[in-house]
Formats: sequence, C-alpha cells, structure tokens
Amino acid sequence: MTSAINVANSSLDVDFENRAEQPNTSFKALIQQIKEDWIAHGRDWVKPGFRAVAVHRFGVWRMGVKSKVLRAPLSLLYRMMYHKVRNTYGIELPYTVKLGRRVIVEHQGNIVVHGNCVLGDDTIIRQGVTLGLRHLDRPLDAPILGNRVNVGAGAKLFGKITIGDNVNVGANAVVLIDVPPNSTVVGIPARIIKSKADSLV
Ligand SMILES: CC(C)(COP(=O)(O)OP(=O)(O)OC[C@H]1O[C@@H](n2cnc3c(N)ncnc32)[C@H](O)[C@@H]1OP(=O)(O)O)[C@@H](O)C(=O)NCCC(=O)NCCS
Repeated sequence: MTSAINVANSSLDVDFENRAEQPNTSFKALIQQIKEDWIAHGRDWVKPGFRAVAVHRFGVWRMGVKSKVLRAPLSLLYRMMYHKVRNTYGIELPYTVKLGRRVIVEHQGNIVVHGNCVLGDDTIIRQGVTLGLRHLDRPLDAPILGNRVNVGAGAKLFGKITIGDNVNVGANAVVLIDVPPNSTVVGIPARIIKSKADSLV
C-alpha cells in the first residue's frame, strides 16, 4: 500500500490507493467528462460540488498514466487539490469512489463519501450527507447507489447496502437497509414510505 488519502474512515488508516480501477482514458476524454460534469452543475465552475467532482475525475485519470515518473507530479497535484476541496468546502470524495456520469454534489459542507462507494449516473448528494461504514470492524463495507438516486440534505447511509435506481432518500434519514428501486425512504432508522413526490426538490 502506498501513501494514504483521507477517506471517510481515515481514522482507521485504511488506504484505498491500490483499490482504484486503472482507467484507460485519454486527456481529451477527461476534459469531455469534466465538461459534462460542469453542465450538470449548472455551468458554474466555482461551485464547490463541481470542483470536487472535477478533482475526482482528475484523480482517476492520472492513475492511467503508465509512467511512474510522469504520474508522480500528477499524484502530488491531485493530493493538493483533494486536500483543498476537503479542507475548504468540506467535501470528501476520494478518487477510489466509483462515480457515474453527471453525478451532482449539490451545495457543500459535511459531505463524506467512503472510498469504496459506488454512485450511479445522475445521482445527487447534498450538504451533510455521509455515505460511510457502519461498523469499525468492517472498514471496507460501503453503500452502493444506483442511477438517479436523490439523497436529501443530512442523510446518512451506512454499511454495505444497495440503493436501487430512482430512489429518494429523505432529508436526515439514516439508511441501514437495502432499498428497492423506485422507492422513498425517510426517518431514523429509514423506512420505506409511499411517496407523492417524483423527486426530492
Ligand atoms: C422524502 C421526501 C421526498 C418525501 O416527500 P413526499 O413524498 O412529498 O412525502 P410526504 O411529505 O407526503 O410525507 C410522507 C410521510 O413521510 C414523512 N416524511 C417526509 N419527509 C420526511 C423526512 N425527511 N424525515 C422524516 N419523515 C418524513 C411525512 O411526515 C409523512 O408522514 P405521515 O404519512 O406520517 O404524515 C421529502 O419529504 C424530503 O425529505 N425531501 C428532502 C428535500 C431536501 O433534502 N432538500 C434539500 C434542499 S437543499
């Protein structure tokens, strides 16, 4: 294992450096992907959520640079930007997270995403959201979110749970169970309700 990147459970000294997929992406594809993220974030390049996602994309991309000599300064740059996003905006989104396309980080502050999480296409997370481990003795267990999952402000999702496509997670919910597609969960612990809303906001 190589140097540590702070992730949701950094206090456990878990290191995900070698767990990331090795991308095979050209620089042009990286720019196109970041442009897509920029559009998804309302074409606002100063939005903290966009910056967090862009840094994540860069972190994934640089792992595809085969030459260690070339990759080293890119990794240094990535770590500096990662720390800047975490310390300035309060968004922890390590590059080991499997991030779908057009994922939106809406607002900022107290956002923690475990390095083993999966976030599907068009998923939205908001301020105060934690996607993390549930038990300290299972440090690699992390939530898997499908496509178009809409996570309300302050929601917490813990452990190796699967959230289906098109799920609404209510504000401040604490989700500890798998959630089937096309449903809404609210409360502590979260329960499935019959929702009137198509989406959260
Ligand atoms: C989850 C949510 C989408 C449900 O909306 P809805 O389908 O219109 O649901 P309703 O308002 O009809 O509520 C259904 C029931 O769930 C309860 N409920 C709704 N949201 C809840 C929440 N976040 N936590 C706890 N209970 C909640 C309601 O009190 C109601 O309970 P009842 O049947 O006992 O009266 C919505 O309430 C929500 O939490 N949105 C989050 C928005 C958000 O995060 N905004 C951030 C903007 S920055």
